[in-house]
Amino acid sequence: MNTLRPLKGKDFLTLMDYSKEEILRILDLADELKDRLAKGAPHECLSGKTIAMIFEKHSTRTRLSFQAGAAHLGLSAFYMDPTTMQLSRGESLSDTAKTIDRYIDALVIRTFEQEIVEDFAKHMKKPVINALTNDTHPMQLLADFQTIREKKKRLHDLKIGYIGDAWNMIHSWGIMSSIIGLDMTYAVPEGYTVKTKYRDFIDRTNRETGGSFTVTHDLKQAMTDVDIVVGITFISMTRAGMTEDAKAKKLKDFMPYQIDSEVMGWAKKDAIYMHCLPAHRGEEVTDEVLDGPQSVVFDEAENRMHTEKAVLALLLGGVD
Ligand code: CP
Ligand code: NVA
Repeated sequence: MNTLRPLKGKDFLTLMDYSKEEILRILDLADELKDRLAKGAPHECLSGKTIAMIFEKHSTRTRLSFQAGAAHLGLSAFYMDPTTMQLSRGESLSDTAKTIDRYIDALVIRTFEQEIVEDFAKHMKKPVINALTNDTHPMQLLADFQTIREKKKRLHDLKIGYIGDAWNMIHSWGIMSSIIGLDMTYAVPEGYTVKTKYRDFIDRTNRETGGSFTVTHDLKQAMTDVDIVVGITFISMTRAGMTEDAKAKKLKDFMPYQIDSEVMGWAKKDAIYMHCLPAHRGEEVTDEVLDGPQSVVFDEAENRMHTEKAVLALLLGGVD
């Protein structure tokens, strides 16, 4: 079966809607666009087009990388502060979505529930791109896998060890690694778990691709002989509403899973350390690891821009 469909006009709400071939197409284009930018070769394939960007949560990387990448493509990107939109005064999501749809060529949105991006997509004909929800962060994973391929020169026979909140990033890493067919282990304290909806997709996909997804409470088991150590935030930003007591308990539960030099020593000698950032230094990772020679966190941050440009170019029809 040919699973490489034209991507023009498609939404990007979750990686689960994309085949391995389509993801590799995006990564290939991201590599090409990165190369073109480095050589100073113009690539304004979306001149005259426009995107709107709504961010209901904080962002440094996602917002700036979309904005800068849009400029390279000749695309105008408009940031809409959600607190000044009529949406915040009670205008319905569907009326907002239908209105935005009349002006722009795509909507990039960072919000809370996954259902919100799905609802925007339902009411819009133009592509909606998920820039992070509580459940998923697909744009980050495209950048992470571009980075893995750059550093490891392959996207097969790779073992991943992961620590971090049972939230959007683990779902996204599990989904991506199952689509690509890699072996992944999530080390997490007892009492924390991934959502069934995503676990079911991951298990089903791994059965087809030959990958695996293991959950353990044993950090050493997760990190021994891995090629990639992923250490993500213990308390995600959308959990800021937690009481101080709940936060303190959660930190106490997760602190034994911190990535430090000893943990990096359990991984393969040439293992890389990855984090989507922002990092909470001294919590999920030590300075020594984050700033150390195995860390590729700023390559990941840079690749956000190249992969997002590839997504925009394909979804908006700048390239076939
Ligand atoms: N990694 C990431 O999405 O960073 P921002 O929250 O700064 O956008
Ligand atoms: N897990 C993180 C991702 C930040 C980019 C969060 O949602 O806070």
